[in-house]
Amino acid sequence: MKAKSSSWIEKAKERAALEAVKHVRDDYIVGLGSGSTAAYAIKEMGKVTRQKNWQILGVPTSYQAMQLATEYGIKTTTLSQHPQLDLTIDGADQIDKELNLIKGMGGALTREKIVASASKKIVIVADERKLVEKLGTNHPVPIEVLPFAVAMVMLKIRKMKGKPRLRETSGKVGPLVTDNGNFILDVDFGTLYAPSRLDSQLQSIPGVVETGIFAGMADIVYLGTKNTVRKLKKR
Ligand code: A5P
Repeated sequence: MKAKSSSWIEKAKERAALEAVKHVRDDYIVGLGSGSTAAYAIKEMGKVTRQKNWQILGVPTSYQAMQLATEYGIKTTTLSQHPQLDLTIDGADQIDKELNLIKGMGGALTREKIVASASKKIVIVADERKLVEKLGTNHPVPIEVLPFAVAMVMLKIRKMKGKPRLRETSGKVGPLVTDNGNFILDVDFGTLYAPSRLDSQLQSIPGVVETGIFAGMADIVYLGTKNTVRKLKKR
């Protein structure tokens, strides 16, 4: 199990999440992100909608988000019933100043990207450690891959000078299996100078389901710091 981070970091994540939830309105269809920071937002959404007697519906991006929504009293729906969402609130693993993101350390990147792309507004929440000069520096790019194609995809990625590692998990032996029944490759590409182009190149490999590069998708980022929250907006 992941160790709980130090208390200022947890407070910073929570502060960012609380700020993001201010974008929620009555009757909204909201994408529910995954990970520890998005969890604070789900919890707060449950509290606010109960207090104000609002009728929101959530589209969870993972089983984790679905369980939390149920626990905090948020009714859920599906993308089939609601293919257009008003807002998504989600976390991120790395964020650059242009609001490009790396996501997927929680393994939920495919549903997160689908739900984000169905949303009119995408608000990202994180603590300030996630803000970086350039994506990819000391951080892999998670890629969801069909198990059938995994060896072939690894070979092609090596030819692109990436160093892939099949993600394993402590909860079972062998590779981690995503909510979609696929594997995750964590690929070290070094610093990403053209994240959008790399995303397109990876997407063109048969067997790649989705990548954790979210280029130009986020509208607003709230970064929790030790004492306050910074807001970054898409230019
Ligand atoms: C889940 O797959 C990820 O994209 C998360 O949103 C990301 O890992 C951020 O998680 P934390 O808020 O727990 O750092």
